[in-house]
Amino acid sequence: MALRKIVTDGDPVLLKHCKPVEKFDSRLAELLDDMAETMYNADGLGLAAPQVGIIRRAVVIDVSGDRSGLIELVNPEIIERSEETQYGTEGCLSFPELYGYVTRPKTVKFRAQDRNGDFYEKEVSDLFARAVCHELDHLDGRVLPDNIEEPYDPDDEK
Ligand code: NI
Repeated sequence: MALRKIVTDGDPVLLKHCKPVEKFDSRLAELLDDMAETMYNADGLGLAAPQVGIIRRAVVIDVSGDRSGLIELVNPEIIERSEETQYGTEGCLSFPELYGYVTRPKTVKFRAQDRNGDFYEKEVSDLFARAVCHELDHLDGRVLPDNIEEPYDPDDEK
């Protein structure tokens, strides 16, 4: 495993519509391993492939807080969204200075493939649902500045 460089604001790679992953090979496994290591190293909850410069539909998420909840989402799609929403703050490793409030569904159900190409479905809520929505937006070139409804300054709470 290796750390990859996280691309930040202004890099046009963040605005691309990512292509599906077609080969479930050792290169994909290496990318997913590197993405997880890079996410943990940066204390993030999620990371999408374009954030390390790869224009493919692959995401890693771990909202456990203790590195016990890693999931890999390859070619993910949200298939159900709750009508009930949540309003809360988001940040992004690619926009390190930026925080803001974003409305998301409280619960989403998604379908994705794992690193072997096997499909799975999962229903998640609250922070996990927020992370899924945020990371899937990255795959379509939609980033935090597009989504913020109200700015948030973490220093205000100190
Ligand atoms: Ni992000």
